[in-house]
Amino acid sequence: MNKGLPVALMLVLLAGGAMAQSKPPVVDAPVLAATPPDATAIKNLNILDVKPDASAEPGYAAQNNGERVQVQPGNNAPMWRQVGAGVTGYSSLPKSEAPEAGNLIQPFVQYPGSRLSNAGEAWRQVRNKVIIPYGGALLLMVLAAIALFYWRVGAIKLHGKPTGRVVERFTPFERVAHWTNATAFVVMAISGVVMAFGKFFLLPVIGTALFGWLAFVLKNLHNFVGPVFTVSLLIVIATFIRDNVPARGDLSWLLKGGGMLGGDEVKSGRFNGGEKLVFWGGVFVLGLIVVASGLLMDKLLPGLVYERSTMQMAHMVHAVSNILMLVMFIGHIYLGTVGTEGAYQGMKTGFVDETWAREHHALWLDDIQSGKLPAQRSPTPVSGQTVQA
Ligand code: HEM
Repeated sequence: MNKGLPVALMLVLLAGGAMAQSKPPVVDAPVLAATPPDATAIKNLNILDVKPDASAEPGYAAQNNGERVQVQPGNNAPMWRQVGAGVTGYSSLPKSEAPEAGNLIQPFVQYPGSRLSNAGEAWRQVRNKVIIPYGGALLLMVLAAIALFYWRVGAIKLHGKPTGRVVERFTPFERVAHWTNATAFVVMAISGVVMAFGKFFLLPVIGTALFGWLAFVLKNLHNFVGPVFTVSLLIVIATFIRDNVPARGDLSWLLKGGGMLGGDEVKSGRFNGGEKLVFWGGVFVLGLIVVASGLLMDKLLPGLVYERSTMQMAHMVHAVSNILMLVMFIGHIYLGTVGTEGAYQGMKTGFVDETWAREHHALWLDDIQSGKLPAQRSPTPVSGQTVQA
């Protein structure tokens, strides 16, 4: 007989006996109640020191006294219960880079004046029950209102005949800055809308496999085009800020809705009150909020601690400001394309006819005709004849 066999058998028996006798160490540790006590206490607990509260969850403590180890070896349900309660475990990732890596599930938080709550779930509810339905409804209402307006009232037409004399509205630099930003905006808007609302209007049509791939591609596109949008937005702000400084007459332009519907448009400089509102409200304020919250979610803002709660706040700010920005830019895109005859031409070629300038920006044309402003600022050759001072 092989001599090694009895020795191996003995070793197995000895080990088995030792295992049967060994009891799990009884730790005099803090106890997790059904409703966890308070956020910081939970954060500072060590996952290995915690056992569930016997009175709150009858039977759990008994299961932990060795019975579970023998009957269900490998069943680590108590540990997962603690993970679910937000207990901090061990992670080798540096705290500075991944402050919450020890928490597989977001810790409970206690906001002043409110009860202890699971912030992850609260954020999910706000996203799914407030931002998505109300934001989506707002976008649909704006689209419907614009479609109705176009159908019933139509585009703002030129009243006079074009003269053939042109004036430079946008230099090539201004147009490149604008169109780079506009293209990036459209990419961001489409990818953002699919990420937020796609499961309602695309998923049922194209199915899960295609939608999964599309969402994956668009999400990456969103992350990479974001910095392009950021840089071009800053350039657009720097380029157009001078002519968007509020002036006398802007308020009355806004109060009368430009007077555009009545036929007689309130006189304005290079940009009117409505354009200035879009510039300051949409491009400057909302644009910068959208960009800052977006860069935060890309983890591109230095010196910040990227905790889950930081990301959740940034997401909510990003989503709300984006919906408002979209509302403003749906209006801007409408007026810049089919809504105003000749406006798109100005941003496409850089030049507008004298009649267009007279009817939409009379004070600006006055300044050009009186020689205060040049009719052309760039050396680009012009096909028509430039307005003379
Ligand atoms: C497809 C999208 C867009 C289209 C079709 C479009 C079209 C136009 C047009 C035609 C003009 C000239 C208006 C005029 O001559 O008075 C204009 C001006 C302007 N656009 Fe856009 N645009 C788009 C997107 C954007 C975006 C995303 C931004 C910035 C976030 C933007 C910012 C501006 C600014 C700053 C002006 C100058 C007017 C002002 O400063 O008040 N546009 N756009």
